[in-house]
Amino acid sequence: MAAVVLIGSQWGDEGKGKITDFLAEKANIVVRYQGGNNAGHTVIANGEEFKLHLIPSGILYPDKTCVIGNGVVIDPKVLLDELDHIEKRGIKTGKLLISSNAQVIMPYHWVLDGLEEEARGERKIGTTKRGIGPAYQDKVSRIGIRIIDLLDKEEFAEKLRSNLVEKNNLFVKVYGQEALKFEEIYETYLGYAEQLRSMVTDSSLAIDESIRSGGRVLFEGAQGTLLDVDHGTYPYVTSSNPIAGGACIGSGIGPTRIDRVVGVAKAYTTRVGEGPFPTELLDESGEQMRANGHEFGTTTGRPRRCGWFDVVIARYAVRVSGISDFAIMKLDVLTGFDTLKICVGYRVGGEIIREFPQSQKIFRQAQPVYEEMSGWQEDLTLVRRFEELPGAAQNYILRIEELTGVPATLVSIGPGREQTIVRGGIY
Ligand code: IMP
Repeated sequence: MAAVVLIGSQWGDEGKGKITDFLAEKANIVVRYQGGNNAGHTVIANGEEFKLHLIPSGILYPDKTCVIGNGVVIDPKVLLDELDHIEKRGIKTGKLLISSNAQVIMPYHWVLDGLEEEARGERKIGTTKRGIGPAYQDKVSRIGIRIIDLLDKEEFAEKLRSNLVEKNNLFVKVYGQEALKFEEIYETYLGYAEQLRSMVTDSSLAIDESIRSGGRVLFEGAQGTLLDVDHGTYPYVTSSNPIAGGACIGSGIGPTRIDRVVGVAKAYTTRVGEGPFPTELLDESGEQMRANGHEFGTTTGRPRRCGWFDVVIARYAVRVSGISDFAIMKLDVLTGFDTLKICVGYRVGGEIIREFPQSQKIFRQAQPVYEEMSGWQEDLTLVRRFEELPGAAQNYILRIEELTGVPATLVSIGPGREQTIVRGGIY
C-alpha cells in the first residue's frame, strides 16, 4: 500500500495526531492537505508532549519529509513560531516542504473572522478566530495571496494593495473600525517569506515522484467529516474539505493513487463550537467523559461537548470518505460506566431514520435511538492485545464494526505510541 489518507470521522479532535504519528513511522512523506492552525494535534513521542497546529505530525521523525499542501491556509507567523518551538526541543525541521500554491492567512483575515462572528450574533459558528474562513473566502473569490506571491516583492505589493483597498473599505465603512496599514503588513510578511523561501516548492510533484518510486505517503486530514464545508453540519462547519476526497484536491494527487482510507473516531463523540449534536450528554455522564478524556480544545482550550458514539455519523463518514479501516480512539475513557449507549438511528417526528439527514433542520430535531451495552470497570491502559481487553470492551468494538461494516483495525487505549492495539496492517 502506497498512499493512505487518514481522516476524522466525527467533528474533529478524534485523536488523528496520535494515529498519524503511529502510521508515520512507516511512511516516507506526511502531507497536510486542508485547514490551517484551527487544527491542533497533541502527539506524545518518547514521553514528551508536542502540540502541533500546522506542521504535519510526521515532523517528529527525523527521516520523514513533511508537506504542507496547496489546500492548507498558512499563517506564516504561526508556522515560523511552531518551527522555532520544535527546533528548540531538538527536532530537526529541515525536511518540511510548503506548497507554493497554499494560501496565506493575512492580518485582515483574523480581524474579519472576529467581526463576522460578532455580526452573526446568536447564529455564530463558534470559529477558532484564526482567520480560516475569511482566507478560504478570498481563495474562492480568486483574490487570495498564495505563498508564491509572497516570494515576489512586486507581485505581493500589488495583491496586498488591492486586497487592502477592499478590506479597509469594509472595516471603515461597514464595521466602523480602523484601516490596516500597507507598509507594516508588507514589511512583516516579506520578512516571513525570506524565512520560508527555502521550503517552498511544487509539493504535488514531490509527492507524485515519491509514489511513483514506491514511497509511502500518509495524507493527514485535519478537523473531521461533520466539519466538511460540503458534507458536514453546514453552516456549523469549517471552510475546507476534511473528507478523504480533500486529500486529492489539497495536495495535487489523483484519486487512483489512494489505496486506503483510515477513519479515526473516538469511542464516544465530542464537538467544540456551536451546532446540533444528537447524542450530546448534558448530565454527569458527559462530565465524566470530559474529565476522563481531558476534553478541552488543543487550539482554543474550550471545553468539548461530549456524548455517546453515533453510528449514523460513523456510517455517513464511511460513505463520504470510503473508509476502509477505523482507528477507534480513547476506549480507556469509557472505563467506569455501568452501561454504554450506541446511537443506531434518529427519531424525527414519528419516524426513525438511519441515514444522516441532508436537512440540518431535521438533524437539529433528531432524537437518538440507542442500543445499550454492558460497560466495564477495568483499567485498559496497559492492554496490548485485543484478546486482553475485558469481554465487554471487546463486544463494544465488535458491535461498532458490525454496525458500520468496517474493521476497527486500530484501537487506542491511551495517548502513548505503545498504547495502540494493532489488529491488522495499514501499510
Ligand atoms: P473555523 O475552522 O475556525 O472557521 O471554525 C469553524 C468550526 O470548526 C467551529 O465550530 C470550530 O470549533 C470547528 N473547528 C475548527 N477546527 C477544529 C478542530 O481542529 N477540531 C475541532 N473543531 C474544529
